[in-house]
Amino acid sequence: MPTIAIAGASGKLGGATLSALLAHNLIPASSIIALTSSHPGSSTFTALAATAPGLQVRHASFEDPASFEQALRGVDRSGGGEDDNDDGSGKNKKRKKWVEVSDGDGRERHHRVAINAAVKAGVRCIYYSSLAFAYSPQTRSGTSTSKAAVMRAHLRTEAYLTRLRDGKQLDSVTVLREGLYAESWPLYLGYFAADGADPRREVLLAGDGKVSWTAIRDLGIASAVVLAAEGGSEFDNGLFYLSTRARTAMDMAEVAGLVGAARGGKEEEEVGLDEAAVRWWASTYEALEEGECEVDDGMLEELLGRVGVKPEGMEEVVRRMVKG
Ligand SMILES: NC(=O)c1ccc[n+]([C@@H]2O[C@H](COP(=O)([O-])OP(=O)(O)OC[C@H]3O[C@@H](n4cnc5c(N)ncnc54)[C@H](OP(=O)(O)O)[C@@H]3O)[C@@H](O)[C@H]2O)c1
Repeated sequence: MPTIAIAGASGKLGGATLSALLAHNLIPASSIIALTSSHPGSSTFTALAATAPGLQVRHASFEDPASFEQALRGVDRSGGGEDDNDDGSGKNKKRKKWVEVSDGDGRERHHRVAINAAVKAGVRCIYYSSLAFAYSPQTRSGTSTSKAAVMRAHLRTEAYLTRLRDGKQLDSVTVLREGLYAESWPLYLGYFAADGADPRREVLLAGDGKVSWTAIRDLGIASAVVLAAEGGSEFDNGLFYLSTRARTAMDMAEVAGLVGAARGGKEEEEVGLDEAAVRWWASTYEALEEGECEVDDGMLEELLGRVGVKPEGMEEVVRRMVKG
């Protein structure tokens, strides 16, 4: 059983992945290492440690590369990480360890700290939680370019990982382009308040386009199924979109309609111009207009099906969030 280290384990995506690994008995808690920038004794560290008996929690901060390396070296010393390459002698075990990288704010500087530390510590397989932009609805495939600045950082990290693999510093790089969080519609809808406190009836955006919104719970489950697969599995060295299907994709105008309905029939209006939009974030809407997030890939459904779960729909997510 490989030992898996999860960066950002206390966060939304890492937390959902950790919960899914445990809830669906995909990997024993003792084979999982939850990484956190917090220190032993802090509330975050203590809460993580209380998640499941046997779960190991390690301090690792993006601001302190040595701490990351140390946390991952601990995996070696604990003896975890053996896989099917064990020759049976008990001596020359080829070790493999897994780490999922996620930094919470998309900055590639943090990505590099985690990746470089993993390589130094002898990790051979990295599962990178990228983002579900850069899809081409025309060719129904992922591309390596994006109008969205937020995605370009992920693309650079994907390329960095590929270079490390090509240079034999890693055996496997699996890229999971995680669907846009269904729960993040308030952000895309101009920081609209989900709790009904926002008095605006009109929301100004820099552009609009269909998005294959995906619930965080489902991203966690699908990521967990991939992480738990045997080494040398169908996922090794793949690039996958984890996303709901294009037939249920919605643009922001449609999401605004859902929000209005969930708030008691008051329709929000949405138009495509905001002169004050920050250029960096506005590029995100250009990408939406291009259809970069109108992903049509059955992988998420298939992975959830393996543990008997159906994807949560956008309507359900909006209703849950608006009703509180
Ligand atoms: N698909 C989407 O729509 C979407 C949206 C946003 C983000 N993302 C991606 O998902 C990943 C994680 O995002 P998230 O939504 O889970 O973020 P989040 O909920 O804000 O969690 C961020 C995580 O990063 C950890 N962290 C913060 N500062 C750190 C540091 N200095 N060193 C080490 N760890 C640190 C935090 O843990 P501690 O406080 O315990 O250290 C926390 O677990 C990112 O890669 C991001 O690109 C995807």
